[in-house]
Amino acid sequence: MLKDLMIKNLTALKTKTTPIICLTAYSAPMAGIADQYCDLLLVGDSVSMVLYGAESTQEADMPMMIRHGKAVAKAATKAIVVVDMPYGSYEQDLIQALKNAQKIMDETGCDAIKLEGGAAQADTINYLTDNDIPVMAHIGLLPQSVAADGTYRVQGKDADAAEILKQDAIAVQEAGAFCMVIEAVPETLAAEITTMLGIPTIGIGASVACDGQILVTEDMLGLTLGKPPKFVKQYATLNAEIEKAIEQYANEVTSRNFPAKENTYGAVKDSTKTKEIKKAS
Ligand code: KIV
Repeated sequence: MLKDLMIKNLTALKTKTTPIICLTAYSAPMAGIADQYCDLLLVGDSVSMVLYGAESTQEADMPMMIRHGKAVAKAATKAIVVVDMPYGSYEQDLIQALKNAQKIMDETGCDAIKLEGGAAQADTINYLTDNDIPVMAHIGLLPQSVAADGTYRVQGKDADAAEILKQDAIAVQEAGAFCMVIEAVPETLAAEITTMLGIPTIGIGASVACDGQILVTEDMLGLTLGKPPKFVKQYATLNAEIEKAIEQYANEVTSRNFPAKENTYGAVKDSTKTKEIKKAS
């Protein structure tokens, strides 16, 4: 399906009762599995923390996003693939933003980019969409900015903060974003914003009121270190499974129970003997 059509279809899901299913993906194997069930796969800059052990998403850069974006775009056949613009790649001016957005699109083969910020990024979103770059916006908690004070807090809790978030949502919609992530906001505010907009809202820690949901896949699979945030439901505990398997492997190597016969190649055939047998017959 053409990406324009895919993106239009996603926007049309706003009017449907079926929620939009999104997850992050950083690798081809994970994208291959998630693609079967998701409408959208996000190559989030969270890759820097989840796979590279960085302190914040500020440590993601263009080569990292392009490397992982390319792997995911290659493996996903059905879902829209969106790649995050990393910190420092779009804030300087419109020319920098367009140059880097174009580079991500061209080098990964993704369908759209995502950038963080509300009204403050409206001009950039406008400029990118005018230049045929589909943009997913991201409002509410902005992990790239949180890095400065290191605290992840629920956003829009008082009336003034809620009003600012509503203005952000309208600004990014008017600038041409095709959908937006809303991160860490109370349910009532997420519901108000979702009802107010013509484009879909994709919630992370923003309640069932949003048009769709996204999680960091490794968080919901129990593949990240530490305690995940309250809004993450643990659908599996893969870290424990992996540890069990590695412990068993280590024990079997120590006891010489691995490799067993079935994991071992047979003896090399004697080729001179085979030739002699052939000559004699
Ligand atoms: O980088 C990321 O994974 C994200 C999601 C949390 C929406 O931006």
